[in-house]
Amino acid sequence: MCGIFGYVGKRVDAGSLAIDGLKSLEYRGYDSWGVAYKTGGTLTMKKETGKISGVNPADFSAACSIAIGHTRWATHGGVTKENAHPHLNEASTIAVVHNGIIENYEELKEELKKKGHAFRSDTDTEVLPHLIEEELKHTKDFTTAVRTVCLRLKGRYAFLALHTESRTLVAARSGSPLIIGVDTDGYFIASDIPAFLAHTRTVQYLDDGEMIATDGKTVLFLDIETGHEVQKREIEITWSMKQAQKGTYRHFMLKEIMDQKDSIARAINQDEEEIRTIAQAIKHAQGTFLVGCGTAGKACVAAEYFFSVIAGHHVNYAPASEFKLFHHFLKPESLLIVVTQSGETADVLEAMKIAKAKGSKVLSIVNVQGSTVARESDYTLLINAGPERAVASTKALTGQMAVLLLIAYALADKLREGKLLLLETGEMINDMLNPRYVERLEALADGIKRHENLYIIGKSWNYPMALESAIKIQEVSYIHAEGFAGGELKHGPIALIEKGTPCIVLVGKDEVTADILSNAMELKARGAFIIGVSPERRDVFDEWIKVPEASTAQAIVNIIPIQILAYFLAVKRGKDPDMPRNLAKSVTVK
Ligand code: F6R
Repeated sequence: MCGIFGYVGKRVDAGSLAIDGLKSLEYRGYDSWGVAYKTGGTLTMKKETGKISGVNPADFSAACSIAIGHTRWATHGGVTKENAHPHLNEASTIAVVHNGIIENYEELKEELKKKGHAFRSDTDTEVLPHLIEEELKHTKDFTTAVRTVCLRLKGRYAFLALHTESRTLVAARSGSPLIIGVDTDGYFIASDIPAFLAHTRTVQYLDDGEMIATDGKTVLFLDIETGHEVQKREIEITWSMKQAQKGTYRHFMLKEIMDQKDSIARAINQDEEEIRTIAQAIKHAQGTFLVGCGTAGKACVAAEYFFSVIAGHHVNYAPASEFKLFHHFLKPESLLIVVTQSGETADVLEAMKIAKAKGSKVLSIVNVQGSTVARESDYTLLINAGPERAVASTKALTGQMAVLLLIAYALADKLREGKLLLLETGEMINDMLNPRYVERLEALADGIKRHENLYIIGKSWNYPMALESAIKIQEVSYIHAEGFAGGELKHGPIALIEKGTPCIVLVGKDEVTADILSNAMELKARGAFIIGVSPERRDVFDEWIKVPEASTAQAIVNIIPIQILAYFLAVKRGKDPDMPRNLAKSVTVK
Protein backbone atom coordinates (compact mmCIF):
# COMPACT_ATOMS: atom_id res chain seq x y z
CA MET A 1 0.00 0.00 0.00
CA CYS A 2 1.02 3.67 -0.09
CA GLY A 3 4.05 4.83 1.87
CA ILE A 4 4.46 8.07 3.80
CA PHE A 5 7.69 9.80 4.74
CA GLY A 6 8.35 13.12 6.47
CA TYR A 7 11.24 14.91 8.14
CA VAL A 8 11.63 18.17 9.99
CA GLY A 9 14.68 19.14 12.03
CA LYS A 10 18.16 20.59 11.92
CA ARG A 11 19.41 18.59 8.95
CA VAL A 12 19.54 20.50 5.70
CA ASP A 13 19.26 17.50 3.38
CA ALA A 14 15.56 16.82 3.93
CA GLY A 15 14.89 16.50 0.17
CA SER A 16 17.48 13.71 -0.24
CA LEU A 17 16.27 12.12 3.01
CA ALA A 18 12.77 11.96 1.54
CA ILE A 19 14.02 10.23 -1.62
CA ASP A 20 16.01 7.70 0.41
CA GLY A 21 13.07 7.19 2.79
CA LEU A 22 10.70 6.49 -0.10
CA LYS A 23 13.17 4.04 -1.62
CA SER A 24 13.07 2.12 1.67
CA LEU A 25 9.30 1.97 1.37
CA GLU A 26 9.28 0.64 -2.19
CA TYR A 27 8.60 -2.88 -0.92
CA ARG A 28 5.12 -1.84 0.15
CA GLY A 29 4.05 -1.74 -3.52
CA TYR A 30 3.27 1.49 -5.43
CA ASP A 31 2.77 2.93 -8.89
CA SER A 32 3.81 6.60 -8.55
CA TRP A 33 5.69 8.80 -6.14
CA GLY A 34 6.21 12.38 -5.11
CA VAL A 35 8.03 14.70 -2.73
CA ALA A 36 7.53 18.29 -1.53
CA TYR A 37 10.10 20.32 0.37
CA LYS A 38 10.64 23.88 1.42
CA THR A 39 13.70 25.60 -0.02
CA GLY A 40 14.03 29.23 1.07
CA GLY A 41 10.50 30.56 1.20
CA THR A 42 9.05 28.33 -1.51
CA LEU A 43 7.64 24.87 -1.77
CA THR A 44 9.25 22.65 -4.40
CA MET A 45 7.35 19.62 -5.59
CA LYS A 46 8.25 16.69 -7.83
CA LYS A 47 5.84 13.91 -8.81
CA GLU A 48 6.29 10.99 -11.20
CA THR A 49 4.58 7.80 -12.24
CA GLY A 50 6.64 4.60 -12.13
CA LYS A 51 9.53 3.66 -9.90
CA ILE A 52 11.72 5.81 -7.70
CA SER A 53 14.62 3.32 -7.65
CA GLY A 54 16.60 5.10 -10.40
CA VAL A 55 16.23 8.57 -8.84
CA ASN A 56 19.42 10.10 -7.46
CA PRO A 57 18.94 11.62 -3.97
CA ALA A 58 21.72 14.09 -4.85
CA ASP A 59 19.32 15.73 -7.33
CA PHE A 60 17.26 16.78 -4.31
CA SER A 61 20.12 18.19 -2.27
CA ALA A 62 19.01 21.85 -2.24
CA ALA A 63 19.31 23.06 1.37
CA CYS A 64 16.06 22.31 3.14
CA SER A 65 15.12 21.05 6.59
CA ILE A 66 11.48 20.07 6.06
CA ALA A 67 10.14 17.59 3.49
CA ILE A 68 7.42 15.05 2.88
CA GLY A 69 7.13 12.23 0.38
CA HIS A 70 4.78 9.50 -0.75
CA THR A 71 4.64 6.30 -2.76
CA ARG A 72 1.11 5.88 -4.13
CA TRP A 73 -0.80 2.68 -4.79
CA ALA A 74 -3.74 3.95 -6.81
CA THR A 75 -7.25 3.68 -5.38
CA HIS A 76 -9.16 6.89 -6.25
CA GLY A 77 -8.08 8.00 -9.71
CA GLY A 78 -5.71 6.38 -12.21
CA VAL A 79 -1.94 6.20 -12.15
CA THR A 80 -1.05 9.73 -13.32
CA LYS A 81 1.35 12.46 -12.28
CA GLU A 82 -1.59 14.66 -11.26
CA ASN A 83 -3.00 11.96 -8.98
CA ALA A 84 0.38 11.24 -7.34
CA HIS A 85 0.86 12.84 -3.92
CA PRO A 86 1.64 15.40 -2.46
CA HIS A 87 -1.42 17.54 -3.15
CA LEU A 88 -1.43 21.29 -2.59
CA ASN A 89 -3.85 24.04 -1.56
CA GLU A 90 -4.66 27.02 -3.82
CA ALA A 91 -1.76 29.09 -2.45
CA SER A 92 0.77 26.19 -2.54
CA THR A 93 1.60 26.69 1.14
CA ILE A 94 0.22 23.34 2.33
CA ALA A 95 1.28 19.94 0.95
CA VAL A 96 -0.44 16.72 1.97
CA VAL A 97 0.38 13.03 1.54
CA HIS A 98 -2.18 10.45 2.54
CA ASN A 99 -2.78 6.72 2.93
CA GLY A 100 -6.26 5.16 3.13
CA ILE A 101 -9.58 6.52 1.96
CA ILE A 102 -11.54 9.66 2.83
CA GLU A 103 -15.02 8.22 2.37
CA ASN A 104 -16.91 11.53 2.39
CA TYR A 105 -14.55 13.33 -0.01
CA GLU A 106 -17.18 13.87 -2.70
CA GLU A 107 -19.41 15.97 -0.50
CA LEU A 108 -16.39 17.87 0.90
CA LYS A 109 -15.15 18.53 -2.65
CA GLU A 110 -18.53 19.91 -3.72
CA GLU A 111 -18.54 22.25 -0.75
CA LEU A 112 -15.01 23.45 -1.55
CA LYS A 113 -15.82 23.95 -5.24
CA LYS A 114 -18.70 26.23 -4.26
CA LYS A 115 -16.17 28.30 -2.30
CA GLY A 116 -14.02 28.66 -5.43
CA HIS A 117 -11.44 25.91 -4.92
CA ALA A 118 -10.11 24.31 -8.10
CA PHE A 119 -8.95 20.69 -8.16
CA ARG A 120 -6.21 19.20 -10.28
CA SER A 121 -6.59 15.49 -9.50
CA ASP A 122 -9.23 12.77 -9.19
CA THR A 123 -8.08 11.81 -5.71
CA ASP A 124 -9.89 11.94 -2.40
CA THR A 125 -6.65 13.30 -0.84
CA GLU A 126 -6.76 16.65 -2.61
CA VAL A 127 -9.66 17.86 -0.46
CA LEU A 128 -7.35 17.86 2.58
CA PRO A 129 -5.01 20.82 1.77
CA HIS A 130 -8.01 22.82 0.56
CA LEU A 131 -10.02 22.10 3.71
CA ILE A 132 -7.05 23.05 5.88
CA GLU A 133 -6.65 26.28 3.87
CA GLU A 134 -10.31 27.10 4.54
CA GLU A 135 -9.84 26.47 8.28
CA LEU A 136 -6.79 28.72 8.37
CA LYS A 137 -9.16 31.59 7.55
CA HIS A 138 -10.62 31.10 11.05
CA THR A 139 -7.50 30.28 13.06
CA LYS A 140 -3.83 31.20 12.79
CA ASP A 141 -2.75 27.88 14.25
CA PHE A 142 -1.96 25.18 11.66
CA THR A 143 -2.40 22.30 14.16
CA THR A 144 -5.85 23.55 15.18
CA ALA A 145 -6.83 23.90 11.52
CA VAL A 146 -5.77 20.30 10.77
CA ARG A 147 -7.56 19.01 13.86
CA THR A 148 -10.80 20.74 12.85
CA VAL A 149 -10.54 19.15 9.42
CA CYS A 150 -9.96 15.69 10.97
CA LEU A 151 -13.22 16.03 12.90
CA ARG A 152 -15.05 16.20 9.55
CA LEU A 153 -13.41 13.19 7.91
CA LYS A 154 -14.94 9.74 7.50
CA GLY A 155 -12.91 6.62 6.66
CA ARG A 156 -9.65 4.95 7.54
CA TYR A 157 -6.66 7.15 6.85
CA ALA A 158 -3.26 8.46 7.85
CA PHE A 159 -2.05 11.76 6.46
CA LEU A 160 0.86 14.11 6.82
CA ALA A 161 0.64 17.83 6.09
CA LEU A 162 3.50 20.27 5.60
CA HIS A 163 2.90 23.98 6.24
CA THR A 164 5.53 26.28 4.75
CA GLU A 165 4.58 29.37 6.76
CA SER A 166 4.85 27.80 10.24
CA ARG A 167 7.50 25.25 9.12
CA THR A 168 5.45 22.54 10.79
CA LEU A 169 4.55 18.95 10.02
CA VAL A 170 1.19 17.75 11.31
CA ALA A 171 0.06 14.12 10.97
CA ALA A 172 -3.18 12.37 11.89
CA ARG A 173 -4.15 8.74 12.13
CA SER A 174 -7.47 6.98 11.88
CA GLY A 175 -6.91 3.36 10.91
CA SER A 176 -3.65 3.44 8.92
CA PRO A 177 -0.27 3.30 10.67
CA LEU A 178 2.08 6.20 11.32
CA ILE A 179 5.27 6.03 13.35
CA ILE A 180 7.47 8.82 14.65
CA GLY A 181 11.26 8.34 14.51
CA VAL A 182 12.95 10.41 17.21
CA ASP A 183 16.42 11.62 16.28
CA THR A 184 18.73 13.99 18.17
CA ASP A 185 18.43 16.48 15.32
CA GLY A 186 14.76 16.20 14.44
CA TYR A 187 11.74 14.00 13.82
CA PHE A 188 10.83 11.52 11.13
CA ILE A 189 7.24 10.49 10.41
CA ALA A 190 6.59 7.42 8.31
CA SER A 191 4.11 4.70 7.57
CA ASP A 192 6.76 2.07 8.29
CA ILE A 193 9.98 1.79 10.28
CA PRO A 194 12.45 0.97 7.44
CA ALA A 195 11.85 4.50 6.08
CA PHE A 196 14.01 5.98 8.85
CA LEU A 197 15.85 2.97 10.28
CA ALA A 198 19.15 4.29 8.84
CA HIS A 199 18.83 7.33 11.13
CA THR A 200 17.16 6.25 14.35
CA ARG A 201 15.77 3.23 16.19
CA THR A 202 13.87 5.28 18.78
CA VAL A 203 10.20 5.40 17.90
CA GLN A 204 6.86 6.65 19.17
CA TYR A 205 3.59 5.26 17.88
CA LEU A 206 0.57 7.26 16.91
CA ASP A 207 -2.66 5.49 17.84
CA ASP A 208 -6.01 5.74 16.09
CA GLY A 209 -7.75 9.02 16.80
CA GLU A 210 -4.47 10.82 17.54
CA MET A 211 -2.44 13.48 15.76
CA ILE A 212 1.02 14.98 16.14
CA ALA A 213 2.55 18.34 15.41
CA THR A 214 6.27 19.00 15.18
CA ASP A 215 8.54 21.86 14.21
CA GLY A 216 11.62 19.63 14.47
CA LYS A 217 12.48 20.77 18.03
CA THR A 218 9.59 19.19 19.93
CA VAL A 219 6.70 16.89 19.12
CA LEU A 220 3.18 17.26 20.51
CA PHE A 221 0.72 14.34 20.57
CA LEU A 222 -2.97 15.23 20.71
CA ASP A 223 -6.25 13.36 20.94
CA ILE A 224 -8.14 14.48 17.83
CA GLU A 225 -11.56 14.35 19.47
CA THR A 226 -10.77 16.29 22.66
CA GLY A 227 -7.70 18.24 21.58
CA HIS A 228 -6.02 17.15 24.83
CA GLU A 229 -2.32 16.34 24.92
CA VAL A 230 -1.42 12.63 25.03
CA GLN A 231 1.79 11.36 26.69
CA LYS A 232 3.83 8.89 24.64
CA ARG A 233 6.59 6.45 25.50
CA GLU A 234 9.71 6.10 23.41
CA ILE A 235 10.41 2.52 22.29
CA GLU A 236 13.74 1.14 21.06
CA ILE A 237 13.36 -1.05 17.98
CA THR A 238 15.56 -4.14 17.95
CA TRP A 239 15.86 -4.33 14.14
CA SER A 240 19.18 -3.31 12.64
CA MET A 241 19.81 -1.56 9.34
CA LYS A 242 21.82 -4.58 8.17
CA GLN A 243 18.79 -6.82 8.66
CA ALA A 244 16.75 -4.44 6.53
CA GLN A 245 19.19 -4.49 3.60
CA LYS A 246 19.58 -6.85 0.68
CA GLY A 247 23.29 -7.37 1.22
CA THR A 248 24.79 -9.39 -1.62
CA TYR A 249 21.46 -10.88 -2.69
CA ARG A 250 19.80 -9.79 -5.91
CA HIS A 251 16.36 -9.70 -4.31
CA PHE A 252 14.92 -9.36 -0.83
CA MET A 253 12.82 -12.47 -1.41
CA LEU A 254 15.90 -14.71 -1.76
CA LYS A 255 17.65 -12.97 1.14
CA GLU A 256 14.62 -13.55 3.37
CA ILE A 257 14.33 -17.20 2.31
CA MET A 258 18.00 -17.60 3.29
CA ASP A 259 17.36 -15.80 6.61
CA GLN A 260 15.44 -18.95 7.56
CA LYS A 261 18.82 -20.50 8.37
CA ASP A 262 18.48 -18.87 11.77
CA SER A 263 15.04 -17.26 12.00
CA ILE A 264 13.37 -20.41 13.38
CA ALA A 265 15.69 -20.39 16.38
CA ARG A 266 14.90 -16.71 16.98
CA ALA A 267 11.15 -17.34 16.70
CA ILE A 268 11.13 -20.02 19.38
CA ASN A 269 13.40 -18.10 21.72
CA GLN A 270 10.35 -17.25 23.85
CA ASP A 271 9.87 -16.96 27.58
CA GLU A 272 8.83 -20.51 28.54
CA GLU A 273 6.59 -19.34 31.38
CA GLU A 274 4.74 -17.05 28.99
CA ILE A 275 4.23 -19.89 26.49
CA ARG A 276 2.87 -22.09 29.28
CA THR A 277 0.52 -19.31 30.41
CA ILE A 278 -0.73 -18.92 26.85
CA ALA A 279 -1.22 -22.69 26.53
CA GLN A 280 -3.31 -22.61 29.72
CA ALA A 281 -5.35 -19.71 28.34
CA ILE A 282 -6.08 -21.80 25.21
CA LYS A 283 -6.90 -24.86 27.29
CA HIS A 284 -9.44 -23.00 29.42
CA ALA A 285 -10.86 -20.71 26.73
CA GLN A 286 -14.46 -21.29 25.72
CA GLY A 287 -13.64 -21.37 22.04
CA THR A 288 -10.25 -20.50 20.51
CA PHE A 289 -10.37 -18.83 17.11
CA LEU A 290 -7.48 -18.18 14.77
CA VAL A 291 -7.47 -15.41 12.17
CA GLY A 292 -5.00 -14.21 9.58
CA CYS A 293 -4.91 -13.22 5.90
CA GLY A 294 -3.15 -14.81 2.93
CA THR A 295 0.06 -16.53 3.93
CA ALA A 296 -0.43 -15.81 7.64
CA GLY A 297 -3.83 -17.48 7.30
CA LYS A 298 -2.10 -20.63 6.04
CA ALA A 299 -0.02 -20.68 9.25
CA CYS A 300 -3.36 -20.65 11.09
CA VAL A 301 -4.66 -23.66 9.10
CA ALA A 302 -1.41 -25.50 9.88
CA ALA A 303 -2.00 -24.65 13.55
CA GLU A 304 -5.41 -26.35 13.42
CA TYR A 305 -3.52 -29.57 12.60
CA PHE A 306 -0.74 -28.90 15.15
CA PHE A 307 -3.26 -28.36 17.96
CA SER A 308 -5.32 -31.37 16.95
CA VAL A 309 -2.53 -33.90 16.34
CA ILE A 310 -0.11 -32.84 19.08
CA ALA A 311 -2.46 -31.67 21.83
CA GLY A 312 -5.84 -33.17 20.88
CA HIS A 313 -7.29 -29.67 21.06
CA HIS A 314 -9.83 -28.13 18.70
CA VAL A 315 -9.39 -24.58 17.40
CA ASN A 316 -11.25 -22.77 14.62
CA TYR A 317 -9.72 -20.80 11.78
CA ALA A 318 -11.42 -18.17 9.65
CA PRO A 319 -9.78 -15.80 7.18
CA ALA A 320 -9.79 -12.47 9.05
CA SER A 321 -12.02 -10.96 6.36
CA GLU A 322 -14.68 -13.65 7.06
CA PHE A 323 -14.48 -13.57 10.83
CA LYS A 324 -17.32 -11.07 11.28
CA LEU A 325 -19.90 -13.79 10.65
CA PHE A 326 -18.62 -15.92 13.54
CA HIS A 327 -19.02 -13.29 16.25
CA HIS A 328 -22.05 -15.17 17.61
CA PHE A 329 -19.72 -17.78 19.08
CA LEU A 330 -17.51 -15.31 20.95
CA LYS A 331 -17.83 -14.94 24.71
CA PRO A 332 -15.73 -13.05 27.25
CA GLU A 333 -14.11 -16.45 27.97
CA SER A 334 -13.16 -16.99 24.28
CA LEU A 335 -9.71 -16.40 22.85
CA LEU A 336 -8.79 -14.94 19.48
CA ILE A 337 -5.32 -15.77 18.12
CA VAL A 338 -4.25 -13.24 15.53
CA VAL A 339 -1.37 -14.15 13.20
CA THR A 340 0.19 -11.34 11.17
CA GLN A 341 3.60 -10.30 9.92
CA SER A 342 2.97 -6.56 9.71
CA GLY A 343 0.51 -6.22 12.58
CA GLU A 344 -1.30 -3.60 10.47
CA THR A 345 -3.57 -5.63 8.16
CA ALA A 346 -6.98 -3.95 8.15
CA ASP A 347 -9.05 -7.17 8.16
CA VAL A 348 -7.06 -8.51 11.09
CA LEU A 349 -7.55 -5.29 13.06
CA GLU A 350 -11.27 -5.50 12.32
CA ALA A 351 -11.40 -9.10 13.65
CA MET A 352 -9.66 -7.94 16.83
CA LYS A 353 -12.20 -5.17 17.25
CA ILE A 354 -15.05 -7.70 16.95
CA ALA A 355 -13.49 -10.00 19.57
CA LYS A 356 -12.79 -7.13 21.94
CA ALA A 357 -16.36 -5.89 21.65
CA LYS A 358 -17.41 -9.31 22.95
CA GLY A 359 -14.92 -9.05 25.82
CA SER A 360 -12.77 -11.92 24.43
CA LYS A 361 -9.02 -11.91 24.98
CA VAL A 362 -6.59 -11.53 22.06
CA LEU A 363 -3.23 -13.25 21.60
CA SER A 364 -1.16 -12.02 18.68
CA ILE A 365 1.75 -13.66 16.90
CA VAL A 366 3.44 -10.78 15.13
CA ASN A 367 6.70 -9.83 13.46
CA VAL A 368 6.63 -6.04 13.68
CA GLN A 369 7.37 -4.87 17.18
CA GLY A 370 5.13 -1.99 18.27
CA SER A 371 2.66 -2.54 15.41
CA THR A 372 -1.01 -1.82 16.07
CA VAL A 373 -1.88 -5.51 16.57
CA ALA A 374 1.07 -5.99 18.94
CA ARG A 375 0.08 -2.95 20.99
CA GLU A 376 -3.60 -3.75 21.18
CA SER A 377 -3.39 -7.46 22.11
CA ASP A 378 -3.70 -8.91 25.60
CA TYR A 379 -0.72 -11.19 24.93
CA THR A 380 1.85 -10.71 22.16
CA LEU A 381 4.52 -13.11 20.94
CA LEU A 382 7.04 -11.55 18.55
CA ILE A 383 8.49 -13.96 16.00
CA ASN A 384 11.70 -11.89 15.70
CA ALA A 385 12.19 -12.63 11.99
CA GLY A 386 13.66 -9.17 11.40
CA PRO A 387 12.28 -6.87 8.70
CA GLU A 388 10.48 -8.71 5.89
CA ARG A 389 10.58 -6.47 2.84
CA ALA A 390 9.72 -8.70 -0.09
CA VAL A 391 5.98 -8.61 -0.71
CA ALA A 392 5.92 -12.41 -0.68
CA SER A 393 6.06 -13.57 2.91
CA THR A 394 8.61 -16.32 3.58
CA LYS A 395 10.51 -16.18 6.86
CA ALA A 396 7.53 -14.65 8.67
CA LEU A 397 5.41 -17.70 7.75
CA THR A 398 7.90 -20.25 9.08
CA GLY A 399 8.43 -18.14 12.22
CA GLN A 400 4.67 -18.00 12.81
CA MET A 401 4.35 -21.75 12.29
CA ALA A 402 7.27 -22.43 14.66
CA VAL A 403 5.64 -20.38 17.43
CA LEU A 404 2.24 -22.04 16.88
CA LEU A 405 3.86 -25.49 16.95
CA LEU A 406 5.64 -24.57 20.18
CA ILE A 407 2.33 -23.54 21.75
CA ALA A 408 0.76 -26.83 20.61
CA TYR A 409 3.56 -28.72 22.41
CA ALA A 410 3.06 -26.57 25.54
CA LEU A 411 -0.64 -27.40 25.38
CA ALA A 412 0.30 -31.09 25.36
CA ASP A 413 2.59 -30.43 28.36
CA LYS A 414 5.64 -31.17 26.19
CA LEU A 415 7.14 -27.73 25.73
CA ARG A 416 10.75 -28.91 26.07
CA GLU A 417 10.22 -31.66 23.49
CA GLY A 418 8.73 -29.17 21.06
CA LYS A 419 11.55 -26.71 21.58
CA LEU A 420 14.16 -29.38 20.96
CA LEU A 421 12.42 -30.50 17.78
CA LEU A 422 12.24 -26.92 16.49
CA LEU A 423 15.89 -26.23 17.33
CA GLU A 424 16.86 -29.34 15.36
CA THR A 425 14.56 -28.24 12.54
CA GLY A 426 16.33 -24.86 12.42
CA GLU A 427 19.68 -26.63 12.12
CA MET A 428 18.38 -28.91 9.37
CA ILE A 429 17.12 -25.87 7.43
CA ASN A 430 20.53 -24.27 7.84
CA ASP A 431 22.16 -27.36 6.27
CA MET A 432 19.52 -27.62 3.56
CA LEU A 433 19.96 -24.04 2.31
CA ASN A 434 23.35 -24.68 0.69
CA PRO A 435 24.32 -23.36 -2.79
CA ARG A 436 23.92 -26.78 -4.48
CA TYR A 437 20.40 -27.17 -3.15
CA VAL A 438 19.44 -23.70 -4.38
CA GLU A 439 21.01 -24.36 -7.80
CA ARG A 440 19.01 -27.57 -8.19
CA LEU A 441 15.79 -25.71 -7.58
CA GLU A 442 16.89 -23.03 -10.04
CA ALA A 443 17.38 -25.74 -12.68
CA LEU A 444 13.97 -27.21 -11.89
CA ALA A 445 12.38 -23.76 -12.24
CA ASP A 446 14.08 -23.42 -15.61
CA GLY A 447 12.58 -26.73 -16.71
CA ILE A 448 8.97 -25.88 -15.80
CA LYS A 449 8.90 -22.10 -16.29
CA ARG A 450 6.90 -22.23 -19.52
CA HIS A 451 3.92 -24.06 -18.02
CA GLU A 452 0.91 -21.88 -17.35
CA ASN A 453 -0.75 -24.23 -14.83
CA LEU A 454 0.73 -25.92 -11.82
CA TYR A 455 -0.95 -27.87 -9.03
CA ILE A 456 0.20 -28.73 -5.53
CA ILE A 457 -1.24 -31.34 -3.20
CA GLY A 458 -0.68 -32.20 0.44
CA LYS A 459 -2.42 -33.87 3.36
CA SER A 460 -2.60 -33.01 7.04
CA TRP A 461 -0.33 -29.98 7.76
CA ASN A 462 1.04 -30.29 4.24
CA TYR A 463 -2.42 -29.33 2.97
CA PRO A 464 -2.13 -25.69 4.14
CA MET A 465 1.41 -25.79 2.72
CA ALA A 466 -0.06 -26.79 -0.65
CA LEU A 467 -2.32 -23.72 -0.41
CA GLU A 468 0.65 -21.58 0.57
CA SER A 469 2.77 -22.99 -2.27
CA ALA A 470 0.08 -21.86 -4.68
CA ILE A 471 0.06 -18.32 -3.22
CA LYS A 472 3.85 -18.09 -3.44
CA ILE A 473 4.02 -19.29 -7.06
CA GLN A 474 1.04 -17.20 -8.22
CA GLU A 475 2.09 -13.93 -6.68
CA VAL A 476 5.66 -13.76 -7.94
CA SER A 477 5.70 -15.81 -11.17
CA TYR A 478 2.07 -15.21 -12.32
CA ILE A 479 1.76 -18.90 -13.17
CA HIS A 480 -1.71 -20.18 -12.41
CA ALA A 481 -1.06 -22.38 -9.38
CA GLU A 482 -3.60 -24.10 -7.12
CA GLY A 483 -3.22 -26.12 -3.98
CA PHE A 484 -5.52 -28.95 -2.90
CA ALA A 485 -5.92 -31.49 -0.15
CA GLY A 486 -4.77 -34.72 -1.83
CA GLY A 487 -8.09 -36.43 -1.17
CA GLU A 488 -10.03 -33.63 -2.89
CA LEU A 489 -8.43 -34.32 -6.27
CA LYS A 490 -10.98 -36.89 -7.33
CA HIS A 491 -13.80 -34.50 -6.50
CA GLY A 492 -13.07 -32.14 -9.36
CA PRO A 493 -9.52 -30.81 -9.86
CA ILE A 494 -8.20 -34.01 -11.48
CA ALA A 495 -10.13 -32.97 -14.60
CA LEU A 496 -7.49 -30.27 -15.10
CA ILE A 497 -4.56 -32.66 -15.44
CA GLU A 498 -3.06 -33.08 -18.92
CA LYS A 499 0.03 -34.81 -20.17
CA GLY A 500 3.05 -33.04 -18.67
CA THR A 501 1.17 -30.79 -16.18
CA PRO A 502 3.61 -30.16 -13.34
CA CYS A 503 2.19 -31.29 -9.99
CA ILE A 504 4.03 -30.85 -6.71
CA VAL A 505 3.33 -33.41 -4.02
CA LEU A 506 4.24 -32.48 -0.43
CA VAL A 507 5.10 -35.59 1.52
CA GLY A 508 6.21 -36.35 5.08
CA LYS A 509 6.88 -39.54 6.98
CA ASP A 510 3.72 -40.01 8.96
CA GLU A 511 0.31 -41.66 9.05
CA VAL A 512 -0.85 -39.98 5.81
CA THR A 513 2.21 -40.79 3.66
CA ALA A 514 0.61 -43.77 1.92
CA ASP A 515 -2.53 -41.75 1.13
CA ILE A 516 -0.73 -38.79 -0.41
CA LEU A 517 1.49 -41.10 -2.47
CA SER A 518 -1.57 -42.83 -3.85
CA ASN A 519 -3.00 -39.38 -4.73
CA ALA A 520 0.28 -38.75 -6.55
CA MET A 521 -0.23 -42.02 -8.46
CA GLU A 522 -3.70 -40.84 -9.50
CA LEU A 523 -2.13 -37.69 -10.94
CA LYS A 524 0.65 -39.59 -12.66
CA ALA A 525 -1.87 -41.97 -14.25
CA ARG A 526 -3.38 -38.88 -15.97
CA GLY A 527 0.00 -37.83 -17.36
CA ALA A 528 1.12 -35.36 -14.67
CA PHE A 529 4.82 -34.63 -14.17
CA ILE A 530 5.28 -35.35 -10.47
CA ILE A 531 7.65 -33.25 -8.38
CA GLY A 532 7.92 -34.84 -4.95
CA VAL A 533 9.01 -32.82 -1.92
CA SER A 534 9.81 -35.58 0.52
CA PRO A 535 12.42 -36.93 2.93
CA GLU A 536 12.55 -40.12 0.83
CA ARG A 537 12.74 -40.87 -2.88
CA ARG A 538 9.53 -42.56 -4.12
CA ASP A 539 8.91 -44.36 -7.42
CA VAL A 540 6.06 -42.08 -8.36
CA PHE A 541 8.30 -38.96 -8.44
CA ASP A 542 9.64 -37.74 -11.78
CA GLU A 543 11.72 -35.18 -9.83
CA TRP A 544 12.63 -35.55 -6.17
CA ILE A 545 13.31 -32.51 -3.97
CA LYS A 546 14.88 -33.94 -0.87
CA VAL A 547 13.94 -32.40 2.48
CA PRO A 548 15.07 -33.45 5.93
CA GLU A 549 12.73 -35.57 7.99
CA ALA A 550 11.29 -33.26 10.63
CA SER A 551 8.43 -35.12 12.35
CA THR A 552 5.64 -32.67 13.30
CA ALA A 553 7.71 -29.76 11.89
CA GLN A 554 7.69 -31.31 8.38
CA ALA A 555 5.38 -28.59 7.02
CA ILE A 556 7.92 -25.90 7.99
CA VAL A 557 10.67 -27.74 6.15
CA ASN A 558 8.59 -28.66 3.10
CA ILE A 559 7.54 -25.12 2.26
CA ILE A 560 11.12 -23.84 1.96
CA PRO A 561 12.07 -25.46 -1.39
CA ILE A 562 8.76 -24.22 -2.80
CA GLN A 563 9.63 -20.67 -1.75
CA ILE A 564 12.94 -21.04 -3.63
CA LEU A 565 11.19 -22.57 -6.65
CA ALA A 566 8.65 -19.72 -6.72
CA TYR A 567 11.49 -17.21 -6.54
CA PHE A 568 13.32 -18.76 -9.51
CA LEU A 569 10.10 -19.19 -11.50
CA ALA A 570 9.65 -15.42 -11.19
CA VAL A 571 13.25 -14.61 -12.11
CA LYS A 572 13.31 -17.07 -15.05
CA ARG A 573 10.07 -15.58 -16.37
CA GLY A 574 11.61 -12.10 -16.19
CA LYS A 575 9.48 -10.88 -13.27
CA ASP A 576 10.66 -8.91 -10.25
CA PRO A 577 9.86 -11.18 -7.28
CA ASP A 578 10.17 -8.32 -4.80
CA MET A 579 7.49 -6.24 -6.44
CA PRO A 580 4.67 -8.40 -7.77
CA ARG A 581 2.09 -6.55 -9.83
CA ASN A 582 -1.11 -5.38 -8.08
CA LEU A 583 0.12 -6.44 -4.65
CA ALA A 584 1.22 -4.52 -1.58
CA LYS A 585 3.19 -5.64 1.44
CA SER A 586 0.91 -4.26 4.07
CA VAL A 587 -2.81 -4.31 3.26
CA THR A 588 -4.17 -1.50 5.38
CA VAL A 589 -7.50 -1.16 3.56
CA LYS A 590 -10.41 -3.58 3.89
C1 F6R B 1 1.73 -13.46 0.59
C2 F6R B 1 1.60 -12.46 1.64
C3 F6R B 1 0.25 -12.05 2.06
C4 F6R B 1 0.25 -11.71 3.57
C5 F6R B 1 -1.10 -11.11 3.97
C6 F6R B 1 -1.18 -10.82 5.46
O1 F6R B 1 3.05 -13.82 0.37
O2 F6R B 1 2.59 -11.94 2.12
O3 F6R B 1 -0.69 -13.02 1.77
O4 F6R B 1 0.51 -12.87 4.29
O5 F6R B 1 -1.31 -9.93 3.27
O6 F6R B 1 -0.23 -9.89 5.86
P1 F6R B 1 0.20 -9.77 7.37
O7 F6R B 1 0.88 -11.04 7.74
O8 F6R B 1 1.11 -8.59 7.43
O9 F6R B 1 -1.06 -9.59 8.17
